[in-house]
Amino acid sequence: MTSTAAFWAQAAPGWITQADRQDEIGRPLGAVALDQLRARPGERILDVGCGCGGTTAEIARLVGPEGSAVGLDFAEEMVRAARKRFGLGPEFLVGDIEALEVVPGAPFDAAYSRMTLMLLSDPVAGLSTVRRSLRAGGRLAATVFRDGGANPWLPAAVRGAAPHVGPLPPMPAGDEPGPFAFADPARVTRILGAAGFNTITIEPHDVMLDAPDEPDIVAEWLIEVGPAGGAYRRAAPDAQRSARAGVAGLLEPFRRHGGYRLPSGLWSITAIA
Ligand SMILES: C[S@@+](CC[C@H](N)C(=O)[O-])C[C@H]1O[C@@H](n2cnc3c(N)ncnc32)[C@H](O)[C@@H]1O
Repeated sequence: MTSTAAFWAQAAPGWITQADRQDEIGRPLGAVALDQLRARPGERILDVGCGCGGTTAEIARLVGPEGSAVGLDFAEEMVRAARKRFGLGPEFLVGDIEALEVVPGAPFDAAYSRMTLMLLSDPVAGLSTVRRSLRAGGRLAATVFRDGGANPWLPAAVRGAAPHVGPLPPMPAGDEPGPFAFADPARVTRILGAAGFNTITIEPHDVMLDAPDEPDIVAEWLIEVGPAGGAYRRAAPDAQRSARAGVAGLLEPFRRHGGYRLPSGLWSITAIA
């Protein structure tokens, strides 16, 4: 197992616990790409790095019973959870997008990805698989984070929890896979071009994540879907309580009008195979 696969395997239980919350609060993170995907009834669409399957299920509704939505993720436990959450309808496969020649079931009419491409160890390899899995002229629509300045709340989940639940995996630097690895649009264009895509567009898109005014719940959601999630789950209840309080303290500037408002700066990416 690669180190990123091992990371996601240990993160899976937290993502599964938080799956409904992630789908609800995190929906704006992928909505623009879902619009740009322009999924039509009858199409076959791939969801790359589908996690617990919420976006694949949305795509399945758009393509209807004549079409098909296939979610791919290398975290087996998340794929099992996705199947359990959504039953028949969307299809879920375990697989590493960077290692496959093509995704089983190819060719697809389009591919979608929410908040995954910047986490690939070898994004050219992963996106080459996506391109080979699309029919000629097939569409890609995806979102990734821009830089840390556009997502100022994001480090809170690690900084607030780390003193209580460490040790944590080292923070990614520069182009290493991580939340801000696709911050530079010129790099993203180079990666997509090297993977064989053309007609590439990369547009900034700002969204607001609205979370309820429940500090403990919001802090736990962000910890469990972040790099501190595994250490948090292994920590004693006292340390977990302190971690949640630490994160909630750092999120205080984002608490207003009866809830949390977390501004997120994305790139919305489209390309043609
Ligand atoms: C940040 S999560 C996003 C999950 C989901 N798209 C969402 O928005 O809720 C990234 C997902 O990508 C998956 N992933 C990362 N690298 C992968 C790879 N090489 N092949 C398949 N899945 C991968 C992880 O297991 C994880 O579920």
